[in-house]
Amino acid sequence: MSQVGIIEPHGGKLVIRTGAKEEKLNNAVALTLTQRQQCDLEMIAVGAMSPLSGFMGQADFDAVCDKITLADGKTVWPFPVTMNVDKATADKIKVGDKVVLNDDKGRLLGYQTVKEIYKEDKKKHAAKCFGTEDPAHPGVKSVMDEGEYCLAGPIDVVTARHDPMFKDHRLSPAQTREAFSKKGWKTVVAFQTRNPIHRAHEYLTKCAQEIVDGLLIHPLMGATKDGDIPAEVRMECYLALIQGYYHPDRTMLAVMPAAMRYGGPREAILHAIYRQNYGCSHFIVGRDHAGVGTYYGTYDAQNIFDKLPDGGLKIQPMKFENTFWSKRAGGMVSNKTFPTIEGDQVSLSGTKVREMLMKGERPPQEFTRPEIADILIKSMKQG
Ligand code: ADX
Repeated sequence: MSQVGIIEPHGGKLVIRTGAKEEKLNNAVALTLTQRQQCDLEMIAVGAMSPLSGFMGQADFDAVCDKITLADGKTVWPFPVTMNVDKATADKIKVGDKVVLNDDKGRLLGYQTVKEIYKEDKKKHAAKCFGTEDPAHPGVKSVMDEGEYCLAGPIDVVTARHDPMFKDHRLSPAQTREAFSKKGWKTVVAFQTRNPIHRAHEYLTKCAQEIVDGLLIHPLMGATKDGDIPAEVRMECYLALIQGYYHPDRTMLAVMPAAMRYGGPREAILHAIYRQNYGCSHFIVGRDHAGVGTYYGTYDAQNIFDKLPDGGLKIQPMKFENTFWSKRAGGMVSNKTFPTIEGDQVSLSGTKVREMLMKGERPPQEFTRPEIADILIKSMKQG
């Protein structure tokens, strides 16, 4: 696959909001950001949410929900990115104010210049973007739990994250772009994951890697829900897997500080936009991408890309069927590449895998590499 240079950012240029200086503000309202807001702030600040320069106003909110675009009607954007506050806080703030944005330990992150204050239509956010208003959905719950008013306006960030994890791998879009340039990669496929990499994941990444210059393994390391494997454990898995099973010249690992929304199809678009900003030309979308429970159909997150206006996204989705190990074929296959034979598949439910790991048993190596199984077993023993 050829491409003239590295893909341009979504909206044309990286919008970076870091580099602000600490200010002495008299009587400014200080907000303590939720985990989701802290992650969104960091993503905006480093340019991963380009072309956003801050948190959304009502016109963008409505267009995003109704049309999957920003208010300009043409820039594809699938989820509101809002700075929610409760009513008591909103009452203390006026349009034109600068508010202080702090993390959950009270440390300064930056400032927001408030251009607009509006009440969020949470039902609309949930129904349109998540396809459900069920409060048991973790993304919907997070929307419902946040304050009902939104502060819109640009942010100026002093410190995007205090004590960041995985500093050596926490590359900004400008840094991944520079790294790709240095390696001479023009076409790069990104792999999003919130899990350890199992054989099915590995297979997708290798298939994709065959036809582009490089692979960016780009795990989401911002806020995830209870029950997901902790970031430190996943990192150990990624490092071990890449060391043992990938070509170091063609594979890069970086972490992405975004929060998971568990929004299935619309989140697949958001994940693709982020990766375009990081300089990737292609993006892997497998089965039930960013899904949770049974809220989304197996291939909804692939089909949604076909409904976007032509040219709406420059990054290309690479769509993969459900893949699994076939005993007969002696390798990973999908229904596209090998016929179904009864009893031929090695497939295990997440619950079964967890049970095995808890008992200190390695799942079959057709499901997960032994090195990865051992790291997961060790982490479960440590509780
Ligand atoms: S996600 O929330 O980040 O999507 P996960 O880490 O499980 O969850 O998946 C990472 C990527 O691999 C997604 O694109 C997902 O669709 C894909 N995927 C996971 N397992 C399979 C599989 N067995 N077959 C095909 N695609 C898969």
